[in-house]
Amino acid sequence: MQKDEWKNDSEYREIVSDLLATDMVKKLANYTQHHHSTRLEHSIAVSFDSYKIAKRRGLDYRAVARAGLLHDLFFYDWRTTKFDLGSHAFIHPRVALRNAERITKLSPMEKDIILKHMWGLTLARPKYEESVIVSLVDDYEAVHEFMSPMKAKYENLKHQVKRISVSK
Ligand SMILES: [Fe+2]
Ligand SMILES: [Fe+2]
Repeated sequence: MQKDEWKNDSEYREIVSDLLATDMVKKLANYTQHHHSTRLEHSIAVSFDSYKIAKRRGLDYRAVARAGLLHDLFFYDWRTTKFDLGSHAFIHPRVALRNAERITKLSPMEKDIILKHMWGLTLARPKYEESVIVSLVDDYEAVHEFMSPMKAKYENLKHQVKRISVSK
């Protein structure tokens, strides 16, 4: 996702605006997710990219956009809170579901999307294609958010090497 691309999509904004306005979702901005992104940025990226894919495939993009935004609605730092990775993978979708139910009514599909988004690491298999999309986009964004500043550093390095060899 291009930064802030979602802001130009009025249909997307309309689907998630009530959620974005809640204190709970706003609070996600206070947590670091993957080194270089906040949990709010991560959640919007997962939600918006999944929404675009679901729309192209004629799936329930509304459910994907809303549940995608809420899939990591938990409030602890997963890198320092003492769980092993397996426990975190198991626990946080359940915490997110409970929190999400406090701010909106969820359809069975939306619940499945939130609960099963870690299905590669846990055994619960998704019931819907929509859940698989959010889970795959979540993995993709995690790698992308982790890598992008490194990519910038690498580009910078390449540029400097070029300059050095030109000035020789
Ligand atoms: Fe997650
Ligand atoms: Fe996530």
